[in-house]
Amino acid sequence: MTNDAAMGEALLSLQDIRKEFPSVVALADVSFDLKRGEVHAVCGENGAGKSTLMKIISGVYTPTSGTITYKGVERNFSSPLEAEQLGIAIIHQELNLVPHLTVAENIYLAREPRRGFLVDRRKLRADAQACLDRLGVVIAPDRLVRELSVAQCQMVEIAKALSLNAEVLIMDEPTSSLTEQETRLLFKVIHDLKASGVGIIYISHRLDEMAEIVDRVTVLRDGRFVSTARFGDTNVDEIVSKMVGRSLEEKFPERTSTPTDEVIFSAENLSRHGVFRNVSFTLRRGEILGFAGLMGAGRTEVARAIFGADPLDTGVVTLAGSTLKIASPRDAIAAGLAYLSEDRKAQGLAIKMPVDANMTLANMEEVSSRFGLIDFRKHQSAAEKYVDLLSIKTPSVRQPVRLLSGGNQQKIIIGKWLFRKSRVLFFDEPTRGIDVGAKFAIYKIMDELARDGIGVILISSELPEILGMTDRVAVFHNGTITGILDTARTNQEEIMRYASGYGRTAH
Ligand SMILES: Nc1ncnc2c1ncn2[C@@H]1O[C@H](COP(=O)(O)OP(=O)(O)OP(=O)(O)O)[C@@H](O)[C@H]1O
Ligand SMILES: [Mg+2]
Repeated sequence: MTNDAAMGEALLSLQDIRKEFPSVVALADVSFDLKRGEVHAVCGENGAGKSTLMKIISGVYTPTSGTITYKGVERNFSSPLEAEQLGIAIIHQELNLVPHLTVAENIYLAREPRRGFLVDRRKLRADAQACLDRLGVVIAPDRLVRELSVAQCQMVEIAKALSLNAEVLIMDEPTSSLTEQETRLLFKVIHDLKASGVGIIYISHRLDEMAEIVDRVTVLRDGRFVSTARFGDTNVDEIVSKMVGRSLEEKFPERTSTPTDEVIFSAENLSRHGVFRNVSFTLRRGEILGFAGLMGAGRTEVARAIFGADPLDTGVVTLAGSTLKIASPRDAIAAGLAYLSEDRKAQGLAIKMPVDANMTLANMEEVSSRFGLIDFRKHQSAAEKYVDLLSIKTPSVRQPVRLLSGGNQQKIIIGKWLFRKSRVLFFDEPTRGIDVGAKFAIYKIMDELARDGIGVILISSELPEILGMTDRVAVFHNGTITGILDTARTNQEEIMRYASGYGRTAH
């Protein structure tokens, strides 16, 4: 403690924090401090207690015991508003924007500039524009939030937090769905904020990107404090082994499936006006095919159209040799296609329902008795199997999903689709926000699916993941495939070249 204090003034310090929920001890004896002008990372596996700790700092939760000292005064925040007024702002992991309001209205929600009783719309728009400019993003303040992409929503959340001129800024996985370029913009803002003395708490599962901005790192495991260290005195491997309590030698499992010549799924000349054009690829039995490219290159859009979520203008899709007629996701599911969406909150979960219901809902036949009644025992044991397989941290399968940590909610969506006996699975950024140990489990499952003859398509912005798991990779640029490469014979540089449109064209 004395050592830390010598390094600079503590802006915020927490002592022996404990937080209990019914049937879960989320934090026990956690101490933490933040200095002015410091970026302090908090790391830990899914469910380690990171978000809970942040919610305590920002007044969302009251700790069961322990003390919070902010700017030299012991505090007990009774609400998020109180913490916010004292200068503590948080960008939550689950985005909290109001879809039917505009960008500007969201940024200044409940504190709109007024003239008399009326909202001063012109000032509202101008102030919002200034916030977005400061961040360097181009989003019109008048757009409705529901029209924005996940990445754009994340940028709006960040703009909103910046508008509060906070002294402590908490970022709970701010980059999980940002593009490389957007992440750069954010890092620049973080550097500026640091220079002006703001203390930043930074949570991310992308450990590699931390070196650039992080000063110190605190590791939590199972709700307990493990260590605090200067980032320069440690490294990613050491952080990971502290997170999981053992060292992880391998990032990717050994591939046990080998591609055959049999084409199980194919797409020919798929086009959707203004979105993508002439997209053709084949998927062979035993193969894992990657979709690489920058965010916005059209990978998700193609998958959504194949799945019937968006219309296709032209093109033919075949499964095991027969042409599919898909007009809606319902048709796609009936045909045996599965799509694990990147936008998990909007598309994947019934957040108030328990874990088991969420997993088995997509596949009621499987857990129903002959007379169409739900067999609860089957239902529960099936869910338990996947909770186990994906090491989902929950007190029981009856726990409502909204009480689970962000990463564990994502694992449930994956479990839900695995539970269906699908013939082709599209995994869209499946490991985003998921901790290292669980990533390995998901990769292993992908390999096993491929080995069982199920088609696997991996859409990922993480090139190491594409290189580590796929047999071939289709690279997207600007709505079309610029190359289909043999993974064993390519590398990061070549994929990037195709992804930026400079590679040779595909034939
Ligand atoms: N309101 C709540 N009621 C019951 N349990 C909760 C509640 N909020 C969190 N938990 C539990 O507390 C533990 C810590 O959750 P927390 O959200 O802090 O994890 P996290 O470290 O942020 O994980 P992730 O990386 O997945 O976001 C988890 O086991 C979670 O299920
Ligand atoms: Mg969290």
